[in-house]
Amino acid sequence: MIEFTNVSKVYENGTKALSNLSLSVDKGEFVFVVGPSGAGKSTFIKLLLREETPTKGIVKVNGYNLNKIKKRQIPQFRRSLGVVFQDFRLIPQMTVYDNVAFALRVTNVASRSIRQRVPYVLGLVGLAAKARNYPDQLSGGEQQRVALARALVNNPPLLIADEPTGNIDPELSLEIVELLNEINKCGTTVVMVTHEHELVARFGHRVISIDHGSLVSDADEWGSFYEG
Ligand SMILES: Nc1ncnc2c1ncn2[C@@H]1O[C@H](COP(=O)(O)OP(=O)(O)O)[C@@H](O)[C@H]1O
Ligand SMILES: [Mg+2]
Repeated sequence: MIEFTNVSKVYENGTKALSNLSLSVDKGEFVFVVGPSGAGKSTFIKLLLREETPTKGIVKVNGYNLNKIKKRQIPQFRRSLGVVFQDFRLIPQMTVYDNVAFALRVTNVASRSIRQRVPYVLGLVGLAAKARNYPDQLSGGEQQRVALARALVNNPPLLIADEPTGNIDPELSLEIVELLNEINKCGTTVVMVTHEHELVARFGHRVISIDHGSLVSDADEWGSFYEG
């Protein structure tokens, strides 16, 4: 589902963000990507989303070779991913319902299926009762759940989350990861970047650790890495 082969990224100003990273993620996995600030985690995500291109190496995601993908194929590729960011990126002038429906409207999905799909995903994230609210009327945890509903509304096979709990209170962070866990159990592959070790330790998932742009460890669960 994800395959990085000897991937390096040097930004235009000369910053080496990733060096010779090779890893793969299979369908159905839940993977945490951890590492200190500046380690290269978001660069990894940007390469996955094809927001950046590698300086060296090969990136394959969801059956697309991102080194060879044509510009006109990129929107179609992006629809095969759900993405959640630290800062939610909701549209403040739109209700919760419309923030989620918007993702479908822009891709010309029939209004009948929008009317089915939006309430379904809002129910999934426990926000059916807030459909008519605006983002600023919600807590941080609720706003992130709206972003999650939006990411899931297309039913993508792969969900990418870059520090999704970075702007949320710890109790609510746990809720978000539990929700991601449920989504994973239903078959969606999940890649979640975080630097919150306590959160990672609560779940027995694979942990990829990056530091200074290199792979430090890749373990079946946090404990086996932690105890070295
Ligand atoms: N667009 C950019 N241009 C130049 N340097 C960048 C850019 N984005 C990130 N960097 C640098 O690349 C390194 C890795 O950053 P990043 O991938 O954002 O790390 P993380 O998400 O782990 O904090 C850092 O040194 C950062 O300053
Ligand atoms: Mg980051």
